[in-house]
Parts: sequence; structure tokens; C-alpha cells
Amino acid sequence: MSKMYEQFARDYEKAIVDNIYNGNLERPSLIAMLPELAGKNVLDLGCGPGVYAEYLLNQGASVTAVDVSQEMIKIVIEKLGDKVQAYPQDLSRGLPEEKDASYDIIICPLTVHYIEDVSLLFGDVKRLLKQGGVFIFSTHHPVVDLEVSPSGNYFQKELVTEEWDTVGHLVEVSFYRRSLTEWFESLASVGLCVTQLSEGKPTERMKSLCAESYKRLSTTPHFIFFKCEVR
Ligand SMILES: C[S@@+](CC[C@H](N)C(=O)[O-])C[C@H]1O[C@@H](n2cnc3c(N)ncnc32)[C@H](O)[C@@H]1O
Repeated sequence: MSKMYEQFARDYEKAIVDNIYNGNLERPSLIAMLPELAGKNVLDLGCGPGVYAEYLLNQGASVTAVDVSQEMIKIVIEKLGDKVQAYPQDLSRGLPEEKDASYDIIICPLTVHYIEDVSLLFGDVKRLLKQGGVFIFSTHHPVVDLEVSPSGNYFQKELVTEEWDTVGHLVEVSFYRRSLTEWFESLASVGLCVTQLSEGKPTERMKSLCAESYKRLSTTPHFIFFKCEVR
């Protein structure tokens, strides 16, 4: 796991509230895909410091939040207390503590690319969804990550290591880049069907935060968002 999400978890929490990529592109774009939340049972996978969990709670959902980082889970519990269920779990091992058909909505924002083999996770997502439930996740747009591909082969899944300045100084982050075909195959092989695809949209506010970012992110994809249902 990157130091970003354990050692710098508290800096990360502050950084993502209103920054360019999370606060003004990823989060509003994923939230726009969510169905009605009031009274729904929602599972937040790779919950980080609980910015989504807090939003979901405020919309009237019952929330369970899961993350591999003990520090992130500690932040969520400090912030939201017993209003949420929160526990540490490495999602590459699936969700063995969760019961079949127990969630209306499962979200997984910006986390699946840290997992080399998503088959256990996606299989459990399908198992945990109630009939008519939805799974919504976001990840790096595969075309964007091709620019930093060590192999230069779009179709080859590979580990990419970069340094990001999300928390105000450079921190090394490694993630898996894979093709759109591979995402669709991973979902289809467990019986999840993509019913909506989005490439995200910057907020109007981004214009005043950074006009250059707004222009670039309005004309070039950066993230991709999938909404899936059980087939
Ligand atoms: C980019 S952050 C996103 C946090 C949150 N979803 C959000 O969008 O505000 C990625 C999160 O995924 C978590 N993560 C990375 N690998 C994981 C794994 N194998 N299992 C569970 N969580 C993981 C990290 O600890 C981190 O909190």
C-alpha cells in the first residue's frame, strides 16, 4: 500500500475535500450516477478518510465502509463514530465478512486499480448485491495511463509507479493499468453487466480554482466511471 493512504492519510483527508481531481471531478461525477440513497444499505469500498461515507450518511443511507488502511478506518471512526460500520479489509481477498444479498448500492471510488486480480472482489460484489442493486466504481481512464505505461502496450496489464503531489509533496504511488476490454471481461465473468458508463465532468467551480485544469479536463478524459447491475 502506498504511504499516501497510511502515513499521509490525514493530509490526504484534507487535500481531497475541494481539490481538482477528487473534489471537482471524480466525486461529483460518481455522485451524479448514484440512485436515491435515503433508506438504502450502502457499502463504500476503499472508503479512504470517509468523505463519501459522510455524504452517503447525510443523504439518509446506512453505510458500511471498508479500507485496507488502518489509519483511514481510524479517521472514519473518529469522524463518524457509530453512525457507520467501518473495518479494515484487503479487498484483493474479497469481502468474506459480508452476507449475501445485503446491499442496495456498492461504491468503490478510485480503488480497483490498486488490486492486481479483481476477480474475488467483483465476485463478492455480485454476491452482496440485492436484486436490482447497483455497483458503481471509478478508476483511471486507461487511455490516460497509457502515457505512463512501461511497456507501451495498451492491452497488457502492468504495474505503473508514479510520484503524485496530492498531499503537497511528492509521494510514490503504484497501481495497475489495464485495458477497457479487461475491465469489461472482469465484470462479465462474474455476471456483472455495465448499464452506464461516464468519463466524468469537471465542476464549474474548477474554473475558478485552476482555469488551465478546467480546460484540460473538459477536453481530455482522466477518470472512467462504471455503473453495473447483476445480469
Ligand atoms: C485514491 S484513495 C480513494 C479513497 C476514497 N474512495 C475516495 O475516493 O475519497 C484509494 C483508497 O483505496 C485504499 N486501498 C488501496 N488498496 C486497497 C486494497 N487492496 N483493499 C482495500 N482498500 C485499498 C487506500 O487505502 C485508499 O484509502
